[in-house]
Amino acid sequence: MSGSQRQGPGPQISTSSIFQKLLETMFILYILIVCVSALTTQPEEQAVASTLCQFHGKHYKAEYRLEGEPVVLKCPLVQSQLEANASSHILLTWRKNNSAQLVPRKEPRMWVGDGALWLLPALREDSDTYICTVRNASHCGEMSTELRVFMNIKASLKLVSYVQVVTLSTSGMLVCPDLRDFLPHRTDAKVRWYKDSVLLDENNSKFVGVGKRLVISNASMEDMGYFTCVLTFSLRGREYNVSRNIELLVKKRREETIPVIISPLETVTASLGSKLTIPCKVFLGPDEDPPFAYVQWMANNSEVPNIYPGGRLMQGDVREYSENNESYIEVPLLFNPVTREDLHTDFTCKVNGKQSHQVLRTTVKEASPTFSWKIALAPLSLVILVLGGMWMHRWWKGRAEKHIL
Ligand SMILES: *[C@@H]1O[C@H](CO)[C@@H](O)[C@H](O)[C@H]1NC(C)=O
Ligand SMILES: *[C@@H]1O[C@H](CO)[C@@H](O)[C@H](O)[C@H]1NC(C)=O
Ligand SMILES: *[C@@H]1O[C@H](CO)[C@@H](O)[C@H](O)[C@H]1NC(C)=O
Ligand SMILES: *[C@@H]1O[C@H](CO)[C@@H](O)[C@H](O)[C@H]1NC(C)=O
Ligand SMILES: *[C@@H]1O[C@H](CO)[C@@H](O)[C@H](O)[C@H]1NC(C)=O
Repeated sequence: MSGSQRQGPGPQISTSSIFQKLLETMFILYILIVCVSALTTQPEEQAVASTLCQFHGKHYKAEYRLEGEPVVLKCPLVQSQLEANASSHILLTWRKNNSAQLVPRKEPRMWVGDGALWLLPALREDSDTYICTVRNASHCGEMSTELRVFMNIKASLKLVSYVQVVTLSTSGMLVCPDLRDFLPHRTDAKVRWYKDSVLLDENNSKFVGVGKRLVISNASMEDMGYFTCVLTFSLRGREYNVSRNIELLVKKRREETIPVIISPLETVTASLGSKLTIPCKVFLGPDEDPPFAYVQWMANNSEVPNIYPGGRLMQGDVREYSENNESYIEVPLLFNPVTREDLHTDFTCKVNGKQSHQVLRTTVKEASPTFSWKIALAPLSLVILVLGGMWMHRWWKGRAEKHIL
């Protein structure tokens, strides 16, 4: 087609080629417009995506810090340090609540890194609710987190302190909390410990600092108070101190009464051939909430059913009861009947509590025959005495009558 046109006369060729050029130019223009419009609509689409960013709520944990301290505000949506470092394809941005302006702006003391907003140091005017936005190719999420920065004065201590508890008269440990964000950058992490602003050094035998931990030996009530741990770390060629405050509470161990065996006696008397019951009575403590106790009778250090398979001796039912607002547990040992062998057997009542173990030993003695004779003779001697008295009276009477006659 074009070949035939070229063969045609000059002016004709020129008009038709101008028309074609015009068409070509219009086509190119059209393509250009389409391309440009496609490029210009892309930010609009992104804007649409950002309005669809899902808000995941406010993080439960607020950061309460002192002014002048380094603060790392973590975006709760960025799960781990690893994720933050590994995923360069996620975009993390921060802004304050009620503000579209991203933070940080141009302050050199603030930057975004490792899934967090770093403030070195934090100032009081930084106090706000911060919203972090995490965006990748397919998702967008937002979450808010609160930062409150207090004046570095004693009155603020209570607000920024972590409460930790140790038990009275035991050894305990304090842990310098929330340092993890600073430790990956550690080259020579040193933690110093203070109690009420006094440095606890190596000469202190009661408090021994071991890195992030402070060991307290034999905690006493006087140890209660405020402790401060200070970590020194280097970051981007500068050294920083970050401190944490701990309010130490010393609590008494919950008074757990120890079960005490209060009977039987050391020896129990019984007659051979008779039945006998020896109760093992254990005092558990005040009525409310008695401690756990396991009570058991043993014979020659063996369990009763094992040593008396015939059942001549048996352990009776366990009975737990209350008497005058005190709790007891009672387990009887039943003899049916008592034999001579029992006089040579070692009977023990054993109590196992949660933290205690108690044993009470008892032996069976034969009821003494001499003792029972004495008892039998006592009324007889009385009879003899009475009869003798009557005879004497008669004899005197007889003599008196003879005198008169
Ligand atoms: C942001 O600020 C507004 C008004 O001050 C408040 O109602 C809202 O709860 C705040 N948002 C968060 C996540 O704290
Ligand atoms: C984007 O983030 C979401 C949620 O964190 C995740 O499930 C998804 O795999 C991510 N997509 C890409 C392409 O990384
Ligand atoms: C623990 O301290 C108390 C007084 O605070 C003292 O009476 C006790 O002997 C100490 N115990 C030990 C094991 O040092
Ligand atoms: C950190 O604390 C130590 C001891 O108080 C002090 O000597 C040092 O100057 C502090 N460093 C910074 C950067 O504040
Ligand atoms: C317990 O031991 C004593 C001596 O060790 C023995 O005479 C007695 O028969 C034993 N009792 C039983 C029930 O085995």
